Amino acid sequence: MTAFNTGISDLAAASETAFTRALAETARAVEGKLDWLLPDVPGNRLRSAMRYAALGGGKRLRPFLAVQSAALFDVAPGKALRVGAAIECLHCYSLVHDDLPAMDDDDLRRGRPTVHRAFDEATAILAGDGLQALAFEVVADVQTHDDPAIRSTLVLELAKAAGETGMVGGQMLDLLAEEKPFANYAEVAAMQGKKTGALIRFSCEAGAILGGADRSALAKYGETIGLAFQIADDVLDVESDAAELGKATQKDKGKGKATFVDLLGLDGAKREAARLTDNAVGVLAGYGERAELLRDAARYIISRRS
Ligand code: IPE
Ligand code: IPE
Ligand code: MG
Ligand code: MG
Ligand code: MG
Repeated sequence: MTAFNTGISDLAAASETAFTRALAETARAVEGKLDWLLPDVPGNRLRSAMRYAALGGGKRLRPFLAVQSAALFDVAPGKALRVGAAIECLHCYSLVHDDLPAMDDDDLRRGRPTVHRAFDEATAILAGDGLQALAFEVVADVQTHDDPAIRSTLVLELAKAAGETGMVGGQMLDLLAEEKPFANYAEVAAMQGKKTGALIRFSCEAGAILGGADRSALAKYGETIGLAFQIADDVLDVESDAAELGKATQKDKGKGKATFVDLLGLDGAKREAARLTDNAVGVLAGYGERAELLRDAARYIISRRS
């Protein structure tokens, strides 16, 4: 079984692996692309808030998944990076809104004040809205792919991952569960699968869409690591601290959030995340050696400390 939270010393060793080098490389490239998409406009409050939300932090895991899945099909790296940057815009928007007082009411994100704290609530709402629109603008642009059918499939699937059938629908269920707790695995999994799983699944499928290839294995892989990712996030809320994580911890229980930790206990949640990771690694068997970094990503998701 895959190990969970293998500890700081293991991670220090892991920092020298091909995976961590590739993740850091993608993070740098995504940062550059976002900076290019959102150039600084002195005195422009909305642009400043969008840049604040999108630049300077985050693991950039979703773009990494998009870039690596695209590499399986020999997609030009520049095209995959555009889709990765678009996904990151969508993700950053979801974080800005998730942190608002009306939602999780958080003051710290990626080690800095949240957007509504650094600016104000209205600006944070608009910055999130702007980032969401930018995500679709980037994907729909001809620079992303010269085949309009591929661009429109990307737009369609990103919309489904972002909206009521995905992230937004999951966020609603997350808030409703604060009032009326979920009772079983299926209910919690459905909520987590939407709020976090859908965008991670899309990130993995995006490479196959760009490559005009079959998406089923990457969809299954993405769905599975998406669930494991949220379980790890819920475990870190209990086991980590703000200094390490860059956001407040020990919050989910007090807010009555529906989590696998609540449902299965800390050890049960870790076992479930490890089981999902093993499944995800297995799903990629057909891609052989080429999918090794994606297998590493699945393992990283549950061993990460931030
Ligand atoms: C946090 O996502 C929100 C969840 C979906 C659990 P990440 O853990 O990927 O956050 P960043 O992008 O690295 O800051
Ligand atoms: C948020 O889940 C998922 C999103 C769609 C943004 P959380 O509320 O658990 O994420 P954190 O812990 O604030 O990053
Ligand atoms: Mg939340
Ligand atoms: Mg939150
Ligand atoms: Mg959380």
